[in-house]
Amino acid sequence: MKRLDGKRALITGAARGIGLAFARAYRAEGAEVTIADIDLPRAKAAAREIGARAVQMDITRQDSIDAAVAEAVAGMGGIDILVNNAALFTAAPLVEITRADFDRVFAVNVAGVLFTMQAAARQMIAQGTGGKIINMASQAGRRGEALVAVYCASKAAVISLTQSAGLNLIAHGINVNAIAPGVVEGEHWDGVDAFFAKYEGKAPGQKKAEVGAAVPFGRMGRAEDLTGMAIFLASAEADYIVAQTYNVDGGNWMS
Ligand SMILES: NC(=O)c1ccc[n+]([C@@H]2O[C@H](COP(=O)([O-])OP(=O)(O)OC[C@H]3O[C@@H](n4cnc5c(N)ncnc54)[C@H](O)[C@@H]3O)[C@@H](O)[C@H]2O)c1
Repeated sequence: MKRLDGKRALITGAARGIGLAFARAYRAEGAEVTIADIDLPRAKAAAREIGARAVQMDITRQDSIDAAVAEAVAGMGGIDILVNNAALFTAAPLVEITRADFDRVFAVNVAGVLFTMQAAARQMIAQGTGGKIINMASQAGRRGEALVAVYCASKAAVISLTQSAGLNLIAHGINVNAIAPGVVEGEHWDGVDAFFAKYEGKAPGQKKAEVGAAVPFGRMGRAEDLTGMAIFLASAEADYIVAQTYNVDGGNWMS
């Protein structure tokens, strides 16, 4: 008996990175998985590799959220687990933040997370068998950072939405919780590194090396470091856990 046998999971932004690692881990634990990403060719390639389904989904558009959830339900017969993982990063000194960049990031990281939760929750309530929703927050949501106001605020909003949704949806047997990673290797952090190269004059790779060395565990995280928590929160072992955000960050943050 595997821990997610018979469960059907929808994971947003799972064409690469942490979401893909979760998709692979869920498959290994017996779940059916639908990878939903704005990048459909890459989602399809990832899905082929791990024996999952792929759907196109742009979480900034309500029609796309509705269509992707409907397609996932048609393919798997329902949704028991949602991982709200897709997100964008941005950085700039406060005086250089543009309204366009704020809107772009909040449309994905906050509105996208909320309305994808809503669509999945409606499906889970209709199924009548509860469910698990896992939102991807960040250590960036625990405290502000000088150059990262917009992304930090968006991840603080994810923690808050997890609390409100968790308190509301537990009445339907749906557990909503979040994971707050620290610094995790991958294309996302390659992009973060480029922002710091631009604004702090660091050499490419320098910021990444610095943040990795500063992690109490002794290195940056890998996507696989997060899969244990993602499986646990999606499993029946987490039935009594409601509205929480768990740090999985090698010791960077304590709360
Ligand atoms: N990597 C880190 O260091 C780190 C740290 C803390 C939190 N996180 C969070 O973990 C999650 C995964 O991070 P990652 O490193 O794998 O990121 P990533 O950038 O590698 O992957 C994000 C995925 O989301 C997809 N996506 C972007 N916009 C979308 C949209 N509008 N609709 C649907 N899909 C969209 C992208 O195509 C991509 O496949 C994110 O929520 C991120 O904020 C990451």
